[in-house]
Amino acid sequence: MMTSPAAAVAIFIALGAIAATAGFNVTTISFDEGYAPLFGERNIVRSPDGRAVQILLNLYSGSGFISSDLYYHGLFSASIKLPSDYTAGVVVAFYMSNGDIFEKNHDELDFEFLGNIRGKEWRIQTNVYGNGSTSRGREERYLLPFNPTVEAHRYSILWTNSTIIFYIDEIPIREVVRSGAMDGDFPSKPMSLYATIWDASTWATSGGRYKVDYKYAPFVSDFSDLVLHGCRLDPIQQLPAAEQCREAEAEIAAADFSLLSPEKRDAMLRFRRQYMTYTFCYDELRYPVPFPDCNIIESEKEKFQNSGHLRSPPRAAARRQRPRRRTRGRSRVDAKQQADA
Ligand SMILES: *[C@@H]1O[C@H](CO)[C@@H](O)[C@H](O)[C@H]1NC(C)=O
Ligand SMILES: *[C@@H]1O[C@H](CO)[C@@H](O)[C@H](O)[C@H]1NC(C)=O
Ligand SMILES: *[C@@H]1O[C@H](CO)[C@@H](O)[C@H](O)[C@H]1NC(C)=O
Repeated sequence: MMTSPAAAVAIFIALGAIAATAGFNVTTISFDEGYAPLFGERNIVRSPDGRAVQILLNLYSGSGFISSDLYYHGLFSASIKLPSDYTAGVVVAFYMSNGDIFEKNHDELDFEFLGNIRGKEWRIQTNVYGNGSTSRGREERYLLPFNPTVEAHRYSILWTNSTIIFYIDEIPIREVVRSGAMDGDFPSKPMSLYATIWDASTWATSGGRYKVDYKYAPFVSDFSDLVLHGCRLDPIQQLPAAEQCREAEAEIAAADFSLLSPEKRDAMLRFRRQYMTYTFCYDELRYPVPFPDCNIIESEKEKFQNSGHLRSPPRAAARRQRPRRRTRGRSRVDAKQQADA
């Protein structure tokens, strides 16, 4: 069906708010409704309507924001567009944590985006910590089926009493099911939401081989479609979180995004088969005995080395990620950098 451009624009605007949250029936909020600057305030730029925000890393500072409240379970989400071009050493993180309250036994759920040299794609890392389990990192790394610097994609963390699901757009990419054996390693205390951009030159890209090059600054990451759909805790209330949140808990547990239908589970396995490049579950060098929450799939495990890294990188994905327009000279430089990486 053909529509005039004007009509198409009108439809786009009308559907914008709904389309942004399609699949997840949740409302988006403005930045100031749910968040406040955390550091590098001068490098935090709100959109004119206040519903989107850019965080910048330049020579002087990174930046970050934090939710104004603590949450106990829910769906936490943002559409994120990552900085393009040369981003080695740059890390963008979207995560939940209570590390500022519980120094020794904090909980944490992470999406971390690790920048790269030009022509090589961003990698995503997810991680789960509970009750200070920092010596038991549960990292997984993935490539992406799209270029995350071209347009925004939605990244979501679902955290309930029984499960954690990381989503990219509507695709679940990782599920952590709570089991008794996991004990305190399953996050169990109220957390805040954070988004940050910072210089991680010492480790982010090829173990620190490639540093942030400020010739390409500022590095800008866009956040929009902000969702804090969880049980917001009233700090004055003396009731424990579980009691304050009973109603919200039931609503979250019944929501679409909390249920992994067979179709969604298939989509998750497909994603993992195609894009996962590292998992702690197959890292026998670090963890000779896999953790109780690991779902060991033998046919999948064969594709990984005992360091947890994929034996052969998924080349098809890498090819798709290369920028289309490039000069010959530059691609030779890139080829050299890739050979070195
Ligand atoms: C979305 O959620 C609201 C309540 O939060 C509910 O009234 C509405 O029916 C839901 N819509 C769909 C399509 O599930
Ligand atoms: C959390 O860690 C503390 C020690 O730091 C310990 O006393 C407590 O039992 C742990 N809680 C759980 C649920 O494992
Ligand atoms: C969450 O689960 C724990 C045990 O698994 C239980 O003690 C607690 O009451 C539950 N909390 C809520 C809010 O359902």
